[in-house]
Amino acid sequence: MNHSIATMISEDEIEKRVKEMALQIDAHYKDSESLILVGLLRGSVIFLSDLARRLTIPVKLDFMATSSYGSSTVAGEVKILKELDEEIRNKDVLIVEDIVDTGNTLAKIKEMLLLRNPNSVAICALLNKPSRREVDVKIDWQGFSIEDKFVVGYGMDFNQLYRNLPYIGMVTFND
Ligand code: IMP
Ligand code: MG
Repeated sequence: MNHSIATMISEDEIEKRVKEMALQIDAHYKDSESLILVGLLRGSVIFLSDLARRLTIPVKLDFMATSSYGSSTVAGEVKILKELDEEIRNKDVLIVEDIVDTGNTLAKIKEMLLLRNPNSVAICALLNKPSRREVDVKIDWQGFSIEDKFVVGYGMDFNQLYRNLPYIGMVTFND
């Protein structure tokens, strides 16, 4: 598909915002001795690696991978492709995600992780597309709220490409 990419959020803007988020997260978890950042593969990896390096509190890193079950018309069905390696019982869990769209993925994952009796589960997402929400999910820390546009870069893909762009770009499809 013929398409072009225009910068939506620059590298500098992302860096500044990630720094601010890290300060807030640091402060919030300052007394926690058991914080685990749970990155959702693959989109969150760039954001997670930048965010984690800005934190000064001790943290563990772990990852989960999910995919939507079957057809995307079946809302709320989320399949686990990779489980956590860490036990999260009595731990503070911070789920790190690239973008919240319908909210289905995060709602399901949060519900699933809460069954393991962690001390807390919170959500940190770089981007939020509130106009697309189907399921209510609390985003505890959010980088930027954006319009309903398809974005790539800084971890996010279009057919698995562009994850390595250092900025966030908006995709325009021309036919
Ligand atoms: P949700 O379950 O609908 O909230 O799905 C969120 C997931 O869809 C994100 O983690 C991304 O993997 C993907 N996604 C949603 N919007 C975009 C986008 O604009 N660009 C790239 N991936 C997106
Ligand atoms: Mg994702």
